[in-house]
Amino acid sequence: MAETPLVEQLVTLRQQALAELAQLADLNALDAWRIRYLGRKGALRQVLRDLGRLPPAQRPRAGQVSNEVKEALEAAFAARVQAVKQAQLEAALARERLDVTLPGYPVSLGRLHPSTQTLREIVAIFADMGFQVFESREVETDLYNFELLNIPPYHPARDMWDTFYLNERVVLRTHTSPGQIRAMQAYCPHPIRVVLPGMCYRYEAVTARSEIMFHQVEGLAVGTHVTMADLKGVLVTFARRMFGEQRRVRFRCSHFPFTEPSVEVDIDCLVCSGQGCAVCKHTGWVEILGAGMVHPQVLRNGGYDPEVFTGFAFGLGPERIAMLKYGIDDIRYFFSNDLRFLEQFG
Ligand code: DAH
Repeated sequence: MAETPLVEQLVTLRQQALAELAQLADLNALDAWRIRYLGRKGALRQVLRDLGRLPPAQRPRAGQVSNEVKEALEAAFAARVQAVKQAQLEAALARERLDVTLPGYPVSLGRLHPSTQTLREIVAIFADMGFQVFESREVETDLYNFELLNIPPYHPARDMWDTFYLNERVVLRTHTSPGQIRAMQAYCPHPIRVVLPGMCYRYEAVTARSEIMFHQVEGLAVGTHVTMADLKGVLVTFARRMFGEQRRVRFRCSHFPFTEPSVEVDIDCLVCSGQGCAVCKHTGWVEILGAGMVHPQVLRNGGYDPEVFTGFAFGLGPERIAMLKYGIDDIRYFFSNDLRFLEQFG
C-alpha cells in the first residue's frame, strides 16, 4: 500500500534531519538543530499541522509515523549530545595528559643558617646551666647602648664601637650589652640568670675579620652571692662543651667599661693545639669572648644595690665561635648567601 504524501514527507524529514545531525560536532550547532527540527516552530510541527486535515482513514498511520519520527529524532539528538560531550571531555583530558610515571622534581631540603645553628648550640649549653633567653631590641638608644653601661659621651672606650646613628639619640645596637640593663630593669629586685642572643651592627669597613652585622650572645647573672668563681665555672663549662672536653681555658686581664674586673677568655688553638700557628698568631691561644663582674655603677643603673648584689656578664660572637670551630677564615661568608658555603652546614 502506497504511503500518503504526509507520511512520505515525514520519512524524508527524518532522513534529512538525521543526516544533518551526524555532521554536527558542537553543542551550539546541536541546539540549533533541535530548535530547527523539534522546536515549537520546528519542521516536525510544520508537517503535523496538516495532520488534522487528512481524511480520517489516513490519520492513524500518519500519527503513528509522526510519533516514530519524533522519538527517533529525540533519541538520535540525545545520543549525539552525549557523544559530543564525551569527545570534548576526551580532548580536554588529552590536552592535560599527565605521565604519572615520570620521576618528580626533587624537593631540596632547607637547613638552618650556620649562624643560627651556632647560636642555638650556644643558647642550649647555657640553658643547661639554668640561663633563660631574654630578648632585647636591635634599635637602641645611646643611653642604653653606651651611657648606662658606663660609657659616657666623652669616654675613649666609645672608639671601640663604630656606631650607626639613626639620629642623635637612637642607634643600631653595637653589642648585646644594653640588654643587660633592660633585663635588670625587668627583673629587679630578683636574681637573674639570662642569655641575650641577637644581631648587632657596626659601622665598619667589611673585611675578612669584621662585618657590619653579626650576632652576639650576652650573658648576665645577678644575685646576692655571685662571684668570679661562678663566672669561671660557667665559662670553662661552656668552652669545653662547645670546643671539646680537652680544651684548656685561659682568663686574661682586660678592660670593659661595664665590668670590673674584666677578662678576656682564650682557649688553646684548635688548629695547632697550642703549638703556635698562623690562626693563633703563634701565641697558641685564641680569644673566644669578653667577660667580667658587673660594674657597681651598671648594677645601680639596672636598679640593684651593689652593696647587696653582685653579678657577672659575658659577651661572645657566634660567627667568631663558628669560625674557630669549623676553621672558617673569612667572616664575610656568613652573610653573602653563597650556597656553596651554606650547604656545608647541614
Ligand atoms: N659588649 C662587648 C663587645 O661587644 C662584649 C662584652 C665584654 C660583653 C664583656 C660583656 C662583658 O657582657 O662582660 O665587645
